[in-house]
Amino acid sequence: MVRELFNSIAERYDLVNRLTTLGLDKRWRRKACETALTYLDVKKPRILDVACGTGDMIRCMMKRLEKRGVPARFYGLDCSERMLEIARKKVPFAELRVGNAEDIPFPDGSFDLVSVAFGLRNFSEREKAISEIHRVLKQGGILLLLEFSRNESPLGKLAWFYTRSVVPIIGGILTGNREAYNHLLRSIEAFPSPEELSREFEKRGFEVLTIRWFFPRIAFVMVLRRV
Ligand SMILES: C[S@@+](CC[C@H](N)C(=O)[O-])C[C@H]1O[C@@H](n2cnc3c(N)ncnc32)[C@H](O)[C@@H]1O
Repeated sequence: MVRELFNSIAERYDLVNRLTTLGLDKRWRRKACETALTYLDVKKPRILDVACGTGDMIRCMMKRLEKRGVPARFYGLDCSERMLEIARKKVPFAELRVGNAEDIPFPDGSFDLVSVAFGLRNFSEREKAISEIHRVLKQGGILLLLEFSRNESPLGKLAWFYTRSVVPIIGGILTGNREAYNHLLRSIEAFPSPEELSREFEKRGFEVLTIRWFFPRIAFVMVLRRV
């Protein structure tokens, strides 16, 4: 169902993101990358973006690492063929595969850094995906999570009200699939808080390094280390 949903909105996915977040999604990805990369101390890192979608996170990380003169190899995994078709044009340097986060098609200890941006809340079996990410990370490897969640501060409540009102309308008009965006909103409502999420990861062999909310307190980054 999730694969069909993203196949159906792939063409306009980037545009809807830019419009509904007023361009903030790019800034969140950039800040999330900068935060996670401060913990990465490897000369030629291998990086996997799980639920890579149209490739924005890979592109963001590539730019940051290029600036630092760090040659990295990039891999992307997503269950939606249509999202990957777009990614292939945007990040031709990355190796992109169709597949599921719950069954990652790479051997144990393959990566120095794994990222998941706005993907985790869509996974049908989150626990399995967390174990898989743990398996493919090297010991001491870094995990970057960027997600939406509801924040109970006044600004967070305002941002949630805006998101709930605007996203299905703009998403619906541009993609013709309003239900897809209603589903995405429901998935944010059902998603655990960063604190609850960090306990899920700690139980499965991760140490939380930092949690940071981004303006206007509707998206956060969590950086973890594989123990
Ligand atoms: C909201 S998009 C995020 C895309 C991208 N990471 C970004 O930052 O824009 C969620 C992506 O997760 C993918 N996805 C959902 N469930 C998945 C799963 N179980 N395994 C792999 N990819 C999945 C979808 O196909 C979609 O491309």
